Amino acid sequence: MTQTRCKDQVILDLWHPLAALAEVPPGVVSDTVLLEEPVSYAANRDGKADVWRSLRDLPAGTPVEVGTLGNTLPVKIAYGYVWTSLGNPPADLFPIPEFEEADRRKLNAATVGVHVSAPRAIENFLDMGHFPYVHTDILGAEPHTEVKEYDVEISVDRDEILATRCRFFQPMASTASQGGADVDYIYRVPHPYCSVLYKSSPVDESRLDVIAVFLQPVDQEHIRAHMMLCVLDDSSEDKVIKRFQQTIFGQDKPILENQFPKRLPLDPRAETPIRADKSAIAYRRWLSQKGVTYGVIPAAT
Ligand SMILES: [Fe+2]
Repeated sequence: MTQTRCKDQVILDLWHPLAALAEVPPGVVSDTVLLEEPVSYAANRDGKADVWRSLRDLPAGTPVEVGTLGNTLPVKIAYGYVWTSLGNPPADLFPIPEFEEADRRKLNAATVGVHVSAPRAIENFLDMGHFPYVHTDILGAEPHTEVKEYDVEISVDRDEILATRCRFFQPMASTASQGGADVDYIYRVPHPYCSVLYKSSPVDESRLDVIAVFLQPVDQEHIRAHMMLCVLDDSSEDKVIKRFQQTIFGQDKPILENQFPKRLPLDPRAETPIRADKSAIAYRRWLSQKGVTYGVIPAAT
């Protein structure tokens, strides 16, 4: 079968994440689903990977040598993940220059299946307003509920959304935090289904921690959310850093799964302005401009 079920060429032509490379069992077939298509992948101990449309005679667990299969899909190893595409992907994935900095901890905090569309999950990631209510006493606390004025632009050069000057009072911004602090945020949305967040580092005020969500669209209303951490923290164990992010995402998951409709409406009149704040409005407009139809309810034309 070569005909894909997703008809959205913009989405088909993107790179999509499948798995954290460090978690792929080497030398054997693993299975997943991308855009309703069963796909398989394998990696070796050198960090090379193959991805292909799943084959009946190569089920999960079968030993396989990377580089020996024909008819494979495009592959990119980036930010610790295996990425592929069902279309014609660009040469490069969006840049995250901080990933090259040697003193950062780079981890997949978790890969979590969520019953929601990718755009709904991106929009939730951009929303600071829910911090005091959903991440109470960690990323926010009453009475500090106000989302202060911030700037949003759609960068034409870089083809991404950038939200800057975001500030929020956080009781416990990360595992390295000593207590409550006003935390600076920058959000980037450089890919319709990926977002990169920069926030003040509690250990070095001149630098920023990087937290990214790379969403794998399983279908229009199911995702696997891969959470990448690229943080400054010399002291905490991996599992402690991961658990912090897993706790946060565990609080978001039921909220995401209760979203209705599960696809993101792009019509500016579809939802009230309170829910769709400035960055969300820019994100919806950007998806409309790109002509994205997968995982959204397109605006009537
Ligand atoms: Fe959240």
